[in-house]
Amino acid sequence: MLLELVADISTLAAGRSERVYLVGGVVRDLLLGYPNLDIDLVVEGDAVGLARGLAGTGKAKLLARHHFGTATLKHGEFTVDMATARKETYARPGALPEVAPGTIRDDLARRDFSINAMAVALSPDDHGELIDLHGGRADLEQRLIRVLHPGSFRDDATRILRGVRYEQRLGFEFEVQTAGLLRRDIPMLDTISGDRIRNELELILDEKEPEYAIRRLDDLGVLPRLGLTTGVSDDIHEMFREARNPSRTGKLPTLYFCLLMYPTTVDELEVFITRFNMPSGPSRAMRDTLHLKNSLHLLQRPSLKPSQVYGLLQEYVAPAIEANAIASESTAARGNLELFLTELRHVKSSLNGEDLQKLGIPPGPEMGRILRALHRARLDGEVVNRIDEERLACSLLAGNDNAEPQPQRE
Ligand code: CTP
Repeated sequence: MLLELVADISTLAAGRSERVYLVGGVVRDLLLGYPNLDIDLVVEGDAVGLARGLAGTGKAKLLARHHFGTATLKHGEFTVDMATARKETYARPGALPEVAPGTIRDDLARRDFSINAMAVALSPDDHGELIDLHGGRADLEQRLIRVLHPGSFRDDATRILRGVRYEQRLGFEFEVQTAGLLRRDIPMLDTISGDRIRNELELILDEKEPEYAIRRLDDLGVLPRLGLTTGVSDDIHEMFREARNPSRTGKLPTLYFCLLMYPTTVDELEVFITRFNMPSGPSRAMRDTLHLKNSLHLLQRPSLKPSQVYGLLQEYVAPAIEANAIASESTAARGNLELFLTELRHVKSSLNGEDLQKLGIPPGPEMGRILRALHRARLDGEVVNRIDEERLACSLLAGNDNAEPQPQRE
């Protein structure tokens, strides 16, 4: 289906005297024999006009039209990104590039690494021809990551993060000169906006085993430059593996962010959140993580009742509790955190407000107090079924409340 779509695009382009090329990561992965369904096409001509033309034939749907003459087509489950071939110049390091229409040669020359700067021609007269102007194929064979020119990391320091991601994903090495340029240009990361860096960090954390790239970034001094001055824990491999355990419900990459920030202080975390414009979900999870870490002594007290453990943890989001369960050094605290995650958070009373009304308890603060007391009794195993709960509710209403006060979160 995908091949048909690509064939349709190249036929339509030929009729418009435009040339189409398969480019970037998919070419790299084709040559490596790895699956990749992210199809990127470059058009010498007008990519948006061509995409519209194809959508007009009903063979694909035009999903979106973006800046810089790019468009996305959808055909069944496949999406194809199409871009007009372009030249780029950087007015200053870290700025978004200035863009002008160009040839496939220009388009490949603006790319990050030789292994990503190859194209496969798709027009009828040169169909299938590999265009490799920067030695990408040889670098694939020698398993090397190489920039196309010495100013590459200066123009766009996100390539430092991208390079490490490819190096660790593919098991490649930086070519000697590239490695020197990368180290030289680490300070250029300061020129990149928080959003762009965060985006690259998220791409790294989306990798199958991101701990390798994270460790490498720390060794290179990239993470300290990004404000993670405490360094990465020696146990990162074990911790990240545990974060991927299917029993964990904290979403990735939020749980990874919580683990990464575990050794930092509250102040350092706030600087990180602001610098990288972190969205509210992960920000809350990271703040909760440190708050809980700083309150863990409360969970280490001997003979805590289950309802007390619940009371201490109920306000925290799941990734924060999981990060502490994974990273805390206290066995006692870890035991209580896991007890909450595996059992206590799922415990529910049998009776709800409606049931209590049927027993003659009117809605209001009194009902809330009784519902909480029933829940505590359930957690502590003092009631095990509906009849026990009804009995307890009636005795609580009669004023027999000898339930423990709930421990407060500090
Ligand atoms: N690119 C670049 N510099 C960047 C970002 C992207 O030169 N800062 C180029 C690379 O040639 C890359 C292509 O744009 O191959 C597409 O970028 P992207 O979709 O991010 O990467 P993929 O190569 O598709 O890699 P991945 O397999 O990680 O998706």
